[in-house]
Amino acid sequence: MPKNLSGAARKTKQKKARVRAIGVITGGGDCPGLNAAIRAVVKRADGDGVQVFGIYEGFKGLYEDQIRPLKPIDVAGIISRGGTILGTSRYNPLKEDGGIGQIKKNLQRHRIDAIVNIGGEGTMRFSHELHKLGVKVIGVPKTIDNDVWGTDFTFGFDTAVNIAMEAIDRLHTNAESHNRIMIVEVMGRHAGWIATYSGIAGGADAILIPEQPFKMSRLLEILDRRQKIGKRFSIIVVSEDAKLLLDVGQDPPALLHTPVHRDEYGTLKLGGIAGLLEGELRRTLSAEIRSTVLGYIQRGGSPTAYDRVLATRLGVAAVELLLHGKSGRMVALQGHDITSVPLNQVAKKLKTVDPETYRIGEVFFD
Ligand code: F6P
Repeated sequence: MPKNLSGAARKTKQKKARVRAIGVITGGGDCPGLNAAIRAVVKRADGDGVQVFGIYEGFKGLYEDQIRPLKPIDVAGIISRGGTILGTSRYNPLKEDGGIGQIKKNLQRHRIDAIVNIGGEGTMRFSHELHKLGVKVIGVPKTIDNDVWGTDFTFGFDTAVNIAMEAIDRLHTNAESHNRIMIVEVMGRHAGWIATYSGIAGGADAILIPEQPFKMSRLLEILDRRQKIGKRFSIIVVSEDAKLLLDVGQDPPALLHTPVHRDEYGTLKLGGIAGLLEGELRRTLSAEIRSTVLGYIQRGGSPTAYDRVLATRLGVAAVELLLHGKSGRMVALQGHDITSVPLNQVAKKLKTVDPETYRIGEVFFD
């Protein structure tokens, strides 16, 4: 703002610079709590007379102009609903020729001053790119994986952990009745948070996560020890990206790891480690062994109260940051407080399971 403006003119200028319309997008994989966050953005913005536009099918909609007004009536009653009323995708329009130009044109057409991007680590990296290219943006972290750096928890995680815990409880009864070794595969593309938390909550006898490569010999020892002390069943929780060290004598050591595929957007697709582990254990053990892959069930359905409240707090905070003229930041939970961190820091890192949390699970590996 020019320095020689009078006080009144300054005020008018400031008024002109204020946010009049914002867009809201959900990007990446869906998770419980997205609708609670969308509702919070719409209601908080409406409280200050700011118009909200829904941008559909993730960043595809931003590029293809799938943009429509979203009013408080449109978000009534959605707090308990899973998924996202906006739809989502893993599409990255910055990979298109002229992608950024098209995005800016679409935002201008609807007079949208800033956007709220609700997503995981990929969405936060993309949001940082947009910010650098001159788009006003605030990120809101979500993902069942809980691996976004800068926030203690992402919404979606608590619901996924509760679903996985309930599944483990149910599998426990089958394992106990049949004296079986039960392997439960849970999601978590780069981090073993779901496995660690659901394993601790479900009383797992071993938890295998990507952050802590596990020796097959150690797993066999655990299973053997349980048999010897009269515990005739075992529960192993394995994260989809876990790595088992088969033979540490080799250089590099032979690993048991899920075959890696890429989806249509080039994103890593994991899954199948439970079956591989079952096959490997069968080579050595005569016990009955069964495996279950929980898959997308962990991402579906109604969010827990914790996730609804967290998503609501983060959605409100995102709008308030924009009202204060901020951009290029991600709202975050740190301790009990909602704060924000620069997107450039979030974009560089991943929040993986810390050894201390994992050690708590290890206490119960018999
Ligand atoms: O990032 C969340 C997540 O559910 C991961 O745990 C999983 O590996 C991945 O998404 C699956 O992605 P998609 O929905 O693209 O198959």
